[in-house]
Amino acid sequence: MLVRCYRVKPAVWAALFVLVLCWFYIFPVYRVPSDTEIVDEVLRQGGVWEKNQTGIDLYRKLLTDCCDPRRNFAVTKENSPMGKVLWYDGEFYHSHTVNNETYPLFVQRNPLQFPLKKCAVVGNSGILRHSKCGQHIDRADFILRCNLPPLSKDYVEDVGTRTHLVTANPSIIEKRFQNLLWSRKAFVDNMKVYGSSYMYMPAFSMKPCTDLSLRASYALADSSSNLTMLFANPEFLRTVGKFWKARGVHAKRLSTGLFLISLALGLCEEVTAYGFWPFAIGLDGKPVSHHYYDNILPYKWFHTMPEEFVQLWHLHQSGTLRLRLEHCPP
Ligand code: CDP
Repeated sequence: MLVRCYRVKPAVWAALFVLVLCWFYIFPVYRVPSDTEIVDEVLRQGGVWEKNQTGIDLYRKLLTDCCDPRRNFAVTKENSPMGKVLWYDGEFYHSHTVNNETYPLFVQRNPLQFPLKKCAVVGNSGILRHSKCGQHIDRADFILRCNLPPLSKDYVEDVGTRTHLVTANPSIIEKRFQNLLWSRKAFVDNMKVYGSSYMYMPAFSMKPCTDLSLRASYALADSSSNLTMLFANPEFLRTVGKFWKARGVHAKRLSTGLFLISLALGLCEEVTAYGFWPFAIGLDGKPVSHHYYDNILPYKWFHTMPEEFVQLWHLHQSGTLRLRLEHCPP
């Protein structure tokens, strides 16, 4: 009898556990609205947007308190001296100790000139295609772009030409430039389109990122490129991740775009975001490609861009940042 009782109990608990899981699957506590619900909501709220200085100040303070972007967004000689242990933000229990090889590659201190007035953060959504937002974007004082996006003449009218900071995911270096193990000319030539901007790479997020980022840095330095390499500070990325987690973003890792928007909210007096629309249909009901230059979808479980969009939409509604979702007026 006693033995049977022990055998039954785990089975009952397991069944209960499965029931609870099913319950949360069918009736989740929080459900991201569907694409059509989002479109309806955005259309219902209309295009009127009003800047709210209190909201802007509040978010700058919150982000400064949690993540100190001014001092910490990049790895510098000041915040990461020789011997400092940098813990990778995308892996457990992996670290890099700043050494003779890495320290000389760090900039002395945060090189950005403050105050940054009007900032444009440009995501890569297909919503930018035919948006005619290029001139609007180019008028900003500081322009941040994601993942070495194409700025060729086919896209200039929609996305502009100027860049002040561009992120480079190491996977792009791997796929587009063969890990920079062979000729580095294609890489160096491709980077010319970003002028004399900062290239921002997550060198200390995951182990394989380090070598790729160092190689990109050497390639720029050896070719006397106008770009300056900045390595993202893993501590900054970790704290920004926690900041959004506390506000309901459950992604394994935030998207590049949300990192940049967080940076801009912490550093800029006014932020406008273009190309943030992770949905397959547009406000006019027509299909929208994932990127303005292709339709390659992201790895499903990594980011939760629709969840992030809901947060950005709240910030837009509260006047803290402006999300440009419609075409830009001429
Ligand atoms: O590396 P990741 O997949 O995060 O970015 P991406 O596909 O190169 O796009 C850059 C950023 O634009 C993303 O991180 C998103 O924040 C944003 N994005 C969006 O909101 N909607 C899309 N359909 C595509 C990108």
